[in-house]
Amino acid sequence: MANKVALITGAAGGIGTAIAEKLKSEGFDLALNVRTVKPQFKELVERLSDESCHVQVVLGDIARAEDCKRMVEEVIEEQGQIDVLVNNAGITRDKLVMQMSEADFEDVITTNLNGAFYLSKYVSRYMMKRRSGRIINMASVVGLHGNAGQANYAAAKAGLVGMTKSFAKEFASRNILVNAIAPGFIETPMTEKLTEQVKDKIKAEIPLGKIGEPSDVANLTAFLAGDESRYITGQVISVDGGMNI
Ligand SMILES: NC(=O)c1ccc[n+]([C@@H]2O[C@H](COP(=O)([O-])OP(=O)(O)OC[C@H]3O[C@@H](n4cnc5c(N)ncnc54)[C@H](O)[C@@H]3O)[C@@H](O)[C@H]2O)c1
Repeated sequence: MANKVALITGAAGGIGTAIAEKLKSEGFDLALNVRTVKPQFKELVERLSDESCHVQVVLGDIARAEDCKRMVEEVIEEQGQIDVLVNNAGITRDKLVMQMSEADFEDVITTNLNGAFYLSKYVSRYMMKRRSGRIINMASVVGLHGNAGQANYAAAKAGLVGMTKSFAKEFASRNILVNAIAPGFIETPMTEKLTEQVKDKIKAEIPLGKIGEPSDVANLTAFLAGDESRYITGQVISVDGGMNI
């Protein structure tokens, strides 16, 4: 039987790479989105590609609707189907509101929220025809609680939560399951720019007392992509060491 195919955005990032590795180990073929191919990503693709796993690279900027449409078409053309879409790519432009420009706000919304909409819209067209599919949106604990200095990011992630629930309701009759993951604080390139002082402050607010690893998020992604989660849709599940309690 042919492998299922997962399209993962932001696959060169910390969480995206962990998801690619985990879904390969679960028997998926992969379509990995990046904007540009850097040496580290080339190595990842070489490491993941073998006779058990077809790896396709799809280049594009998720903030651009035309790129999203083309990327979906490229995957359908090469692999014939998309079983799972993981809307993982995201950016931050952290600033206090008084310093946050309109562009800081719009860029984060366009990438983190619009990007997930464009891809979900184009992918769901194919999923609807097959009456099967999974969409997994990478939200954030910040989208549930807000955070000073992240009004743009929190708004985008909260928007993703509402969008997840709406897509879930709209597509349930076609057996397309749509869920969101709300990571807390995960050690990745996105968070490594924070100072040790800030990291210690965040750690003190985590009941489990430690920062999460990308694999913690990838494990839940694999569960939501797999058969055992077939009766779960419209949910936001936190992977945050208890930050959300
Ligand atoms: N690390 C955390 O603590 C944390 C917490 C909560 C949520 N998240 C979310 O998890 C996801 C992955 O984050 P990460 O920590 O791995 O960050 P990361 O910065 O390591 O990876 C994000 C990836 O997305 C890519 N990307 C950004 N804009 C893009 C665009 N327009 N088109 C295509 N690709 C684009 C980047 O190039 C990067 O490779 C993000 O959505 C992030 O908001 C992360």
